Amino acid sequence: MAAKDLRLGVNIDHVATVRNARGGAYPDPLRAARIAEAAGADGITAHLREDRRHISDADIDGLMEVLSIPLNFEMAATAEMQAIALRHKPHAVCIVPEKREERTTEGGLEVAREENKLAHFIAPLREAGCRVSIFIAADRRQIEAAHRIGAEVIELHTGAYCDAHAEGHFTERDRELESLREMSAFAHSLGLEVHAGHGLTYDTVQPVAAFPEVRELNIGHFLIGEAIFRGLEPAIAEMRRLMDEARLRLAAG
Ligand code: PXP
Repeated sequence: MAAKDLRLGVNIDHVATVRNARGGAYPDPLRAARIAEAAGADGITAHLREDRRHISDADIDGLMEVLSIPLNFEMAATAEMQAIALRHKPHAVCIVPEKREERTTEGGLEVAREENKLAHFIAPLREAGCRVSIFIAADRRQIEAAHRIGAEVIELHTGAYCDAHAEGHFTERDRELESLREMSAFAHSLGLEVHAGHGLTYDTVQPVAAFPEVRELNIGHFLIGEAIFRGLEPAIAEMRRLMDEARLRLAAG
């Protein structure tokens, strides 16, 4: 199996978080996107939140203009975001749940509860040529619902697995990893493309990268933090190396 059959999407939201802390123009997320591309990223991910706390509308305009790798546009299922996505037609749209009071995207989308609404919501995005991805927990019901509404991709939320690892709860971590593994295989068996992300670090990326059905990992916060110490390009290159290593080990059996 070729190493590059696992793509790395670099999430640049938190470059914008640092910029917005002072309200000025630097650090520039577009510059980060260009560096990510040079470091081996296969795509850029950016979440335009309703409250614009990090990425701005102008950032999305700029990314669509300058990027030569695909943009994965993360957004909530709102009419405002749908209009923005339809105007730009990014390569991929990832639908995420969003609560104003949360620090980050805390859980996966409740697709099963809002199946009809979401099916109508994503139809025009698919017609516009965007690959629609749904960010969900590793839960069979949610995966089946994502499949029924016509999503082409699911992104599995790795946050619980990463949190359990960080807190030293290794039994729970292993249980979370096992559900991610089983649900990757289940989603793949339905014909869905499987992505994963949230909270991944150098310590947690390899077991997920080794799931044969996973085609893309989206990673942001850790990489932007690590860039403070070793620079953005080496921070991303090391993540790419770890992903490739896990994948090559898988290919070697
Ligand atoms: N994937 C999705 C759908 C997300 O919402 C996020 C966080 O914005 C990520 C991946 C990246 O998570 P992190 O920044 O923790 O690596």
